[in-house]
Amino acid sequence: MTTPILNAIYKRRSIREYTDEPVKIEALREIVKAGTWAPSGLNNQPWRFVLVTDTAIRLQLAEQTRYSHIVKAAPALIVVFLDIGEMYNEVKDHQAAGACIQNMLLAAEELDLGAVWLGEILNRKDQVKQIVGISDEHDLMAIIAIGHPIHHNQSSKRKEINKLIIKEILEAP
Ligand SMILES: Cc1cc2nc3c(=O)[nH]c(=O)nc-3n(C[C@H](O)[C@H](O)[C@H](O)COP(=O)(O)O)c2cc1C
Repeated sequence: MTTPILNAIYKRRSIREYTDEPVKIEALREIVKAGTWAPSGLNNQPWRFVLVTDTAIRLQLAEQTRYSHIVKAAPALIVVFLDIGEMYNEVKDHQAAGACIQNMLLAAEELDLGAVWLGEILNRKDQVKQIVGISDEHDLMAIIAIGHPIHHNQSSKRKEINKLIIKEILEAP
């Protein structure tokens, strides 16, 4: 089956290599807008974003992760936080952040950009917050690295769905 949305879901890959071409701020804002149209519990929209294209800040952020080569190569970063004061349920707010980030990855793909969700950098949450000047009222969820893809050769694998569907409890035909 193919539909535009299914196609985007299946086509999206994590992109970790980028050209030097800058990413337009309008594109970054569109990606964030797509993120904000993700569902959230009670529609509380707890996500907050810092957009970074400044080279000095990107290089400082790159020092905080073992994936520094990706952060250095990416001309743009979206740093994703939860506003702790807006949260009402830890699990549900984290789930909402995941939905928001996935929306942003799909939006980047749709805009012919490449993006990857960086989670390892969460080991250095405090340093990231300090570098981008964000208070302790916010909790770091991820950094999304974004740029124009050098190529589209990325491949990925998925487990077979019949090994993942544990049970089907179906109405008798
Ligand atoms: C919570 C989370 C954290 C991730 N952290 C990293 C990371 O730190 N570095 C990285 O290169 N990729 C990271 N990824 C991307 C995954 O490696 C990638 O999504 C996975 O290998 C499947 O590949 P695909 O996105 O191309 O389908 C992360 C993905 C998720 C959902």
